[in-house]
Amino acid sequence: MPFDKTTATAIRLDGVDLSLGSGAARVHILKGVSLAIKQGEAVGLVGPSGSGKSSLLMVLAGLERADAGRVEVAGQQLTGLDEDSLARFRGRHVGIVFQAFHLIPTMTAVENVAVPLELAGRADAFARAAAELTAVGLGHRLDHYPSQLSGGEQQRVAVARALAPEPRILVADEPTGNLDEATGRQIMDLLFEAQARRGATLVIVTHDATLARRCDRTVRLRSGAVEAEEALAGAGAESRA
Ligand SMILES: Nc1ncnc2c1ncn2[C@@H]1O[C@H](COP(=O)(O)OP(=O)(O)O)[C@@H](O)[C@H]1O
Ligand SMILES: [Mg+2]
Repeated sequence: MPFDKTTATAIRLDGVDLSLGSGAARVHILKGVSLAIKQGEAVGLVGPSGSGKSSLLMVLAGLERADAGRVEVAGQQLTGLDEDSLARFRGRHVGIVFQAFHLIPTMTAVENVAVPLELAGRADAFARAAAELTAVGLGHRLDHYPSQLSGGEQQRVAVARALAPEPRILVADEPTGNLDEATGRQIMDLLFEAQARRGATLVIVTHDATLARRCDRTVRLRSGAVEAEEALAGAGAESRA
């Protein structure tokens, strides 16, 4: 399906509030965040540590529920969905990559990618997982366990797992934070490639200014609110060419 970048809104947040923790430890994290991201757009989420970047990513990935405001992702209103519906929504529409890989240590690379597909009812889960791992250069590591893989290889498995269900939304929280520069760049190439080739929307949290400049736009958070947005269309197109 061709995506029209100029009209389709992939992610829309209106006045989103989020508090986490309980009792005296409860923290008001997101304060009236409004944001619109187009289908196929690459957005870099930047800002100081503790400004709410990860929390915002969790809200738009359907991993945390906003306390107030509206969250619409891939045409689905997330506000008010119960846990089961949110989990189904994530499985279908959102691919997530974390800084610390989050692979299941007792499963091989191919199992890490295939099992979520199986749970989603895909009959071709293992074939599809093998194909995705081959596409990220790990065709020769299918039966390796995470502990037998380098950090960069583990993150490739995580990227293959995120891409396998062909999600329309791809979110990544400092995906290169645990990797050296060259390895991190390869991981970013995979994510931007997926964004460009599959028309996916990419939202990426990063401290890396070079990486943020590869996006179409940056959104800067401060103290749980959007402080600034900056369009970078020219730079992004150039570095991805
Ligand atoms: N589960 C939680 N319970 C209480 N406070 C939290 C929780 N998660 C994050 N916070 C707090 O919310 C703020 C924003 O955190 P986070 O979204 O992780 O920021 P960032 O990713 O920009 O560093 C921080 O002050 C953090 O301590
Ligand atoms: Mg964070």
